[in-house]
Amino acid sequence: MSFPQTRLRRLRVTPAVRALVRETDVHSARLLQPLFVRHGRRLRRPIASMPGQFQLSVDELLKEATALREVGVPGVLLFGIPDRKDDRASGAYDPKGIVPTAVRALKRELPDLLVICDVCLCEYTSHGHCGVVRRGNIANDPTLKLLARAAVVYADAGADFVAPSDMMDGRVGAIRAALDRAGFHQTGILSYAAKFASAFYGPFREAAENAPRFGDRRAYQMDAANRREALREVALDVEEGADIVMVKPALAYLDVIHAVRERFDVPVAAYNVSGEYAMVKAAATQSWLDEKTVALEILTAIHRAGADIIFTYWAREATGWLRTEPRPRPPDKS
Ligand code: PBG
Repeated sequence: MSFPQTRLRRLRVTPAVRALVRETDVHSARLLQPLFVRHGRRLRRPIASMPGQFQLSVDELLKEATALREVGVPGVLLFGIPDRKDDRASGAYDPKGIVPTAVRALKRELPDLLVICDVCLCEYTSHGHCGVVRRGNIANDPTLKLLARAAVVYADAGADFVAPSDMMDGRVGAIRAALDRAGFHQTGILSYAAKFASAFYGPFREAAENAPRFGDRRAYQMDAANRREALREVALDVEEGADIVMVKPALAYLDVIHAVRERFDVPVAAYNVSGEYAMVKAAATQSWLDEKTVALEILTAIHRAGADIIFTYWAREATGWLRTEPRPRPPDKS
């Protein structure tokens, strides 16, 4: 049947009908907020390239996390900015380092807030690369031991999930084995399985102070052109024991998210990265875009593509927006 019997506009006539037939509902239970934590007290340093985001000291992090919990954000992803960097990334696996300190504080104050720790060396190495450097190359296997050490330290501090974002081969297996050896059978691995070498991470480099001092990350992060290779990456991570797999960035990679969702039966996450956020913020400042509507459209698209879980710098605001979305109202009494 086609026109005039079929009129698809019938399903769009009112907010109530539209809500009834909506196929994708972003729910705040699926939105997680990345946070940046550093040493100090009463620090709330704005990140210029990411308006509305801050580097926080642990006391301020607790306030932020409490506010997030109150509006209904289920969890946070932690990035640490250490005081000192060295070529072995010691700050990444120091039990007294910034991330384990923050995790212990969060778990003490807000035990039911999910705490996910990014596991990578780039914030902690003097050269800014995600692994140890040997003869100008990022050495894969020696890096695995350090990543596994960091994961165990975060698990010991109370992290619910560790999230390796380094893109070394074999890291999920190495981390799973180390966690199990240390008795952390319940600590999950959310792997950045298909992480692309992307210019959309630009603003994050200011936030996490992790820009590489030489070269770029193309010898370990994926080439933007490759979807089949992304599926191989995911397959390997699942085999090595990843509980949740992530695609990153999200917006320019919706087809990859979709392909991963179709092929695998594990929960799929996507990372709505710093550049995706900064672009909208910048345009909104000029009144070229309406931030709220665009952000919700983006999150809906990422979810529609197949991501069950979304990391987004809008988690807190979006949770508020979703609660106040226009809903069908009872008719006026008058
Ligand atoms: C660290 C890491 C990066 C991001 C998450 N973890 C940066 C990078 O790989 O250069 C990017 C997040 C964002 O842009 O929001 N390996």
